[in-house]
Amino acid sequence: MSVGLEQVRRDWTRLGSTEPLWAVCVDPDKRDGGWDEDEFLASGRAEIDPAVRRLDELGLAPRRERVLDFGCGAGRLSNALAAHFDRVVGVDISAPMLDEARRLDRSKGRIDFRLNERPDLSLFADDSFDLVYTDLVLQHLPTDLAEGYLREFARVVRPGGALVLGVPESERRTFKGLVFKYVPWPLVALAQRVILRYPAPMRMHTLRTERVAELLTGCRIVASDEYWGGDHWRHLKHYVQVGGLA
Ligand SMILES: C[S@@+](CC[C@H](N)C(=O)[O-])C[C@H]1O[C@@H](n2cnc3c(N)ncnc32)[C@H](O)[C@@H]1O
Repeated sequence: MSVGLEQVRRDWTRLGSTEPLWAVCVDPDKRDGGWDEDEFLASGRAEIDPAVRRLDELGLAPRRERVLDFGCGAGRLSNALAAHFDRVVGVDISAPMLDEARRLDRSKGRIDFRLNERPDLSLFADDSFDLVYTDLVLQHLPTDLAEGYLREFARVVRPGGALVLGVPESERRTFKGLVFKYVPWPLVALAQRVILRYPAPMRMHTLRTERVAELLTGCRIVASDEYWGGDHWRHLKHYVQVGGLA
């Protein structure tokens, strides 16, 4: 495992074993077990149902057989995806997050939660999914790792399939946005630990749309919709067609 990925694994293992639901959807009011589980899962449906409608609207409607939820955490989005797809595979690098996801699984056995500690998706064959969905994940990864996974998404989805990628593309000019942009990471990590009492640091990285497009060989970004992902970053949801390009 690369040093960068090992650190990511350690941080998310700690976050998953102390406050999994808060670490997935950070909200100061939900610290110390403040998330109601039904409300947590409902937030997943509130995200996935419109995204599936948007895929249809854009003419991207993939087959509804097998979907990959990359960085599934406690299974918030996996459960919602199971309402639209026959089989859902949720992968995560954090074993305790996956324990939580298995505990919250409401799909009656249609979600397969898998641990992946590699910087790639070699546990999956080429063209083995209809859709890859990921949100609130790539932003926490060092850029080289995020870029490697993006290439892998294009490989594991079959032609005619799609990707839905939630990524912050730039910091906003708020105090926190500027801190993340300009203050050296060790100081931000220290503030998270000492002032905000985070169980482990949470990095934030941005990813420009042009770079995403460059990495997704054989794919086309059909729409990039802005959505609310906190006040401090401009978040985009990219809807991507896989294959079928002239
Ligand atoms: C903020 S949570 C989001 C969870 C889920 N996507 C959601 O929106 O409910 C980020 C998740 O990404 C996972 N993660 C971080 N790096 C990863 C990697 N390299 N591979 C797979 N999962 C990863 C973390 O363990 C954590 O569960």
